[in-house]
Amino acid sequence: MTRAVSPDLPARLRAALDARLQGVSRNAAAERAAAISRTYRDGGGSAVIAGETDALAYALARMPATYAANVASLNALIEARPDFMPATLLDVGAGPGTATWAAAEALPSLQSFTLLDANEALRRLALDLFDESGRQVYYPRGDARALLAKAQAADFVVANYVIGEMGEAERAALASLMWEKTRDTLLVVEPGTPAGYARIIALRSLLIAAGAHVAAPCPHDGPCPLAAPDWCHFVQRLQRSRAHKQIKGADAPFEDEKFAYVALSRASVSRHASRVLAQPEAGKVEVAAKLCTPDGLETTRVPRRDKAAYAEARRWRWGDAVSLN
Ligand SMILES: C[S@@+](CC[C@H](N)C(=O)[O-])C[C@H]1O[C@@H](n2cnc3c(N)ncnc32)[C@H](O)[C@@H]1O
Repeated sequence: MTRAVSPDLPARLRAALDARLQGVSRNAAAERAAAISRTYRDGGGSAVIAGETDALAYALARMPATYAANVASLNALIEARPDFMPATLLDVGAGPGTATWAAAEALPSLQSFTLLDANEALRRLALDLFDESGRQVYYPRGDARALLAKAQAADFVVANYVIGEMGEAERAALASLMWEKTRDTLLVVEPGTPAGYARIIALRSLLIAAGAHVAAPCPHDGPCPLAAPDWCHFVQRLQRSRAHKQIKGADAPFEDEKFAYVALSRASVSRHASRVLAQPEAGKVEVAAKLCTPDGLETTRVPRRDKAAYAEARRWRWGDAVSLN
């Protein structure tokens, strides 16, 4: 079993964000966070983030959740590919640097970090946060495709909550270019909505046709066996800090972020475990779990009389990779 990274922001990053909030009106930041969320809900993009307060509001309101989703996807990737030890990272549509922070936590082999984004306010904030933590990064500003075309290939390429901000043709072109620049593995994460899942599935098919193999979450490279209105997504719980609660005007000490993802590698994974697609129902008689297996979808029932298997199945959680005996 590999070590799972915590879904909560690293203490250094939390402290750096909290420090930036000193001297900024909480009300102003909360208002901007609400306006940015409204824009995202209405299908708008990150261009709405236009200055220092906006970037900070985005980072406080959304970075903990997009970080948690990225870490959950990374944990699944590392479990499937414990041999994965990338040295170089390309973070496409990096914004405040979320996925770079997550990758640095999860993949200590990483030595070089390149981030690309068009948004100057988010880039500035990212650079300030990295400066404070002493991490050296290269972060040019501009259109993702133009910058990628010039970038050197990297062992690990990541696009976290990015491809939803572009039209279909641009998304497909970006996907192909990201794959071209991937030496080993590409990870793409999206919100866990039917639309986010549809974008992941389209990118997955496009890149499998170009020679990619799924490392996670799917236990196969075949077409997704789920039929609409069902969609493949996962959920990650994260703690909310005081600043996070204030900015969101929320009381609950935690948040559940739904996300969809795919990790694609150049080499195929030697042995695929099945993926738990919903929270299993653990009763006194049996555990019933919806699984995506190498042979397709199935609802597995593990009876209590099968003591060892039942005890193991009771520990299964939505999103886990599990082996069936
Ligand atoms: C929702 S934010 C996510 C930021 C970051 N990856 C995260 O997880 O917090 C989407 C980011 O993608 C960037 N982006 C969208 N389309 C882009 C493009 N065509 N070129 C460069 N950056 C782009 C935006 O500027 C924004 O920073």
